[in-house]
Amino acid sequence: MTLTRKISLVTTLLYLLISTASPARTQTVRERGVDEGKMKVFVDDLLAKMTLEEKLGQLNQHRWSWGENGDSIRQIYQKNVRDGQAGSFLGLQGVAYSAEIQRIAVEESRLGIPLLLAQDVIHGWRTTFPTPLGEASSWDPALAEKTARVAAVEASAQGLHWTFAPMVDVARDPRWGRIVEGAGEDPYLGGLLAAARVRGFQGTDLSQPNTILACAKHFAAYGGAEAGRDYNIVDISPRTLFEIYLPPFHRAVEAGVATVMGAFNEVNGVPMHANGYLINEVLRNGWGFRGLVVSDYTAIMELQRHGVAATPAEAGILGLTSGVDVDMVSEIYHLELPQMVREGRLSGAVVDQAARRVLEAKYRLGLFEDPFRYHNAEREKTLILHPDHLQIALEAATKSIVLLKNDHGILPLPPAPGSLAVIGALAADQDAPLGPWRGQGMAEDVVSVLSGIREKLPQSTSVYYQPGYTLPEFAGEGLMEAALQAVDQAEAVILVVGETARMSGEASNRTDIGLPGDQLALAKAVLGRGKPTVVVLMNGRPLAIPWLAENAPAILETWFLGVRMGPAVAKVLFGEENPGGKLPVTFPRVTGQIPIYYNHRSTGRPPREDDFFSSKYLDAHWTPQFPFGFGLSYTTFAYDGLAVDRESIGVGEKMAVRFQVRNTGTRKGDEVVQCYLQDNVGSVTRPVRQLVAFERITLQPGEAKTMNFTIYPEQMSFYNSGMQKTIEPGQFTVFVGGSSTAELSAGFEVVAN
Ligand code: NOJ
Repeated sequence: MTLTRKISLVTTLLYLLISTASPARTQTVRERGVDEGKMKVFVDDLLAKMTLEEKLGQLNQHRWSWGENGDSIRQIYQKNVRDGQAGSFLGLQGVAYSAEIQRIAVEESRLGIPLLLAQDVIHGWRTTFPTPLGEASSWDPALAEKTARVAAVEASAQGLHWTFAPMVDVARDPRWGRIVEGAGEDPYLGGLLAAARVRGFQGTDLSQPNTILACAKHFAAYGGAEAGRDYNIVDISPRTLFEIYLPPFHRAVEAGVATVMGAFNEVNGVPMHANGYLINEVLRNGWGFRGLVVSDYTAIMELQRHGVAATPAEAGILGLTSGVDVDMVSEIYHLELPQMVREGRLSGAVVDQAARRVLEAKYRLGLFEDPFRYHNAEREKTLILHPDHLQIALEAATKSIVLLKNDHGILPLPPAPGSLAVIGALAADQDAPLGPWRGQGMAEDVVSVLSGIREKLPQSTSVYYQPGYTLPEFAGEGLMEAALQAVDQAEAVILVVGETARMSGEASNRTDIGLPGDQLALAKAVLGRGKPTVVVLMNGRPLAIPWLAENAPAILETWFLGVRMGPAVAKVLFGEENPGGKLPVTFPRVTGQIPIYYNHRSTGRPPREDDFFSSKYLDAHWTPQFPFGFGLSYTTFAYDGLAVDRESIGVGEKMAVRFQVRNTGTRKGDEVVQCYLQDNVGSVTRPVRQLVAFERITLQPGEAKTMNFTIYPEQMSFYNSGMQKTIEPGQFTVFVGGSSTAELSAGFEVVAN
């Protein structure tokens, strides 16, 4: 079909920009037990009794302070609670104290409205799981749901009602430290994990004492920070915003997420806390989100720094009218806005609406019925670090490991080597596995890689451990010599290198994502000794490791895997478990390739070795070091028999795809089976391919499985040059395989109805 014909047929399916927004896609509120009618009557009645100050008080979120001067601050906060001037707290947990502040709210304030207690429960609470980016490597939404469930059980046992998770920001720039908190670069994988985590935190009944409000953050495009510098401006096209950054939020909303947090950044000139279009029009009216929107920390105040408000009062008006209901920490809403309403500069109806949303969240949690249902010392004592939780931590850690290289099958190592050198201070470190957002996670709970290895090996194996470098500086001086002596004594070597936990996370950006400090020099020296050496990477973000990728015979990507990191890594090293994770993000060869991601749009001069005037570099190859979706196994898999259900379908129909995957090796193994789609010709440039389906399966040696995937009309759609959502008739190509470079392909046509 010609392009002109295609364009002329565009009209077959058009949606307005914000009608990603069809009524069929409005939010499914998952919780049972809440009678919406009854809730409305209750909230109406309560609002009628509240003063303007009390309503704005509900919109105020304080940060609890345990630190110096804490006493006087705590007294002010307690007074505010008594006066109805605080609706929620950030950072106050532990049954004893949180019950006391709840008692003050319920017994000593005029209307006795209970508080919401919130905290960042990101990848576990006390039982720490892999960081979200690590866990995304499992490509296992059911697992993500399970770990979020456990996190909710533990956090709620310590009096918390609300987590600021999941972080669903797509990240295409690994310099940005917060890439560690999300699911990587892909909107589809990220969306499924976002929904799974929402289900895990919130369960099916928010009024149960072990379910908590989830919060999809940071709305929106926080991961688009220019130059990978956290909080920086975001300058992206509407197309990229709607096709890449927004879909995981939409999935979270469809899964019933109760709250959403604004992003610190501006997008194309509009700070997100002043972005009424995206919050009120797209999120609320468009997608049907009915929950509350909370600001990020002091972000209402920061509207002044963005230069879009001249005074705190103006910032407050802007934030609230743009749809941000709760003011985290700035203390602008409750201090500045009463006067603004009185002066007629802010509508009282906007205040009522926001207060209603806060009260509804409290109602859904069942707090008006029993404000203390989350404060149960017995649950706190018995559930934290429960053995079942630790078992899930081990499963999550094991499933998140990615095998990046394994020349000559050097891995797995024999289960009982005579001797082994373990080199690298990270191996013995109990801090790094907790990652940068550790909740109540404690180093004493962590089994380090070194301990995991020692526990796994028989007494007969001599394990020689040497740090090789210092932490957190990664300085090798004075330590390398001893490390090399250990290498010389051993039959095989495990070299652990990477980053400390604090080198990623909020505000922890890097301009060079290579191995920090002297680690590369150490690696060169160790590998120079010629022993069979396995490199274990422990890091929060993709690293640029061209030398290791070329010279190390085996590389395992283990991220920060949480409290059971050591046993998980040891099981994989010695073959008790077969690694089956895949990368949720592209690994560049060098930092200068960033941004590099698999689902880029087509260019007129795609890179070609034999064409100088094509899109490439003089000093590095254009391809990634390790592509999105990549990961090896101790076994091998073959794909064949790809067939599409029909050669052509009408616009708006779905397509069934079928093929076979066979375990062609000699060990049982997991494969993440992936399916990508390309729209061959469009009225605008389209991604060279995009992930549309996947499943992690386990196959015995020789076993084959027939896979059936469905490609939905939504996945064939895109925004045309007028930003109208469209499915254009024409040819599509399906690719299936074990990574984003999958080659087995089949075509089908979408024809005009
Ligand atoms: C700032 C972070 O951006 C956000 O993710 C977090 O939830 C808040 N601080 C509260 O801790």
